[in-house]
Amino acid sequence: MKALQRGVCWCVCVTLCVLSVDASWWYMGSLGSQVMCNNIPGLVSKQRQLCQQNPKVMQAIGAGVKEWILECHHQFRNHRWNCNTMARDHSLFGRLLLHSNREVAFIYAISSAGVVYTVARACSRGELDACSCDPNRTGSWRDSQGTFAWGGCSDHVEHATRFSRAFVDAKERKERDARALMNLHNNRVGRKAVKRFMTLECKCHGVSGSCSLRTCWLALADFRRTGDHLRRKYDAAVHVAVNQYGTGFMRLTGTHLKRPSKNQLVYSEDSPDFCIADQESGSMGTAGRVCNRTSRGADGCEVMCCGRGYDTSRVSRSAQCECKFHWCCAVRCRDCHQVVDVLTCKGHT
Ligand SMILES: *[C@@H]1O[C@H](CO)[C@@H](O)[C@H](O)[C@H]1NC(C)=O
Ligand SMILES: *[C@@H]1O[C@H](CO)[C@@H](O)[C@H](O)[C@H]1NC(C)=O
Repeated sequence: MKALQRGVCWCVCVTLCVLSVDASWWYMGSLGSQVMCNNIPGLVSKQRQLCQQNPKVMQAIGAGVKEWILECHHQFRNHRWNCNTMARDHSLFGRLLLHSNREVAFIYAISSAGVVYTVARACSRGELDACSCDPNRTGSWRDSQGTFAWGGCSDHVEHATRFSRAFVDAKERKERDARALMNLHNNRVGRKAVKRFMTLECKCHGVSGSCSLRTCWLALADFRRTGDHLRRKYDAAVHVAVNQYGTGFMRLTGTHLKRPSKNQLVYSEDSPDFCIADQESGSMGTAGRVCNRTSRGADGCEVMCCGRGYDTSRVSRSAQCECKFHWCCAVRCRDCHQVVDVLTCKGHT
């Protein structure tokens, strides 16, 4: 009985300790439309204050968490690490976050990009009290095709970036250690990525579409563009160490002393291989993951299953086939049954 009690206490302590280390605003994604600022574990006081002052913004950010996680899943769907989140874990990514590897760099960048994106969009949609369309986009302006008038609704990415910086970075600004310095840098890379893909959209006016008059607005591109961009940054991430003053980074590979640029993701720890499940490193392993027999990429069975081999199961799927275009204007297809082999990685033996 004593032993059992001690076991229970130990469990509770471990759970609480893990929570207080890792929990963050990401947890808001699981709260639905009611964001209770005092019930979110891991918010620092500045974040709690912003949360209380901006309930609608928090709702938007909470809903946005699901979107950037989906984008992260998409970017790494064919990868051993597939951005999997853990159920019942307040930090979503478990102990992975205690490390400073490439994967963590990507998570920080895309999460802070996600805040910029969702807040700017919520401003434009009129969902928030403190912002709407970019008020600075008025009057006339020039681009390579001549002059145009600002019109419509330009997404207010500056406001969203400011809010994201204040809210997301607050936690890291409090910590002031090497990990926090890296998180701040990667958060910034993420925010800049959103702004980079703003596009000028225009409507033509004038005699029979001559386009002698244009009204234009700056619009956010699809979040996929940001995801693709950050995925390339992940591939090109720079291995760094924090300098002796704790104020910046030094590259550990290539030209020493040269600092990484403000557009590069930085990391300081090598990643685990993510082959087998391991709580300490935050790896879920690849047992049960679907792989592709013929692919030579990361989703190939050899790479994905880490040489453990795979199981084959035959499944029948229905799909549309023999689609024909009928004049005018319909596409008609037949339902075909296909039998396909699905290959899944064997577990560790
Ligand atoms: C307004 O926009 C122009 C460019 O469109 C920019 O140069 C200027 O800094 C902006 N001002 C503010 C207050 O954001
Ligand atoms: C498997 O990989 C090959 C080669 O990359 C590709 O052509 C094929 O579409 C993939 N199969 C599936 C089911 O994804």
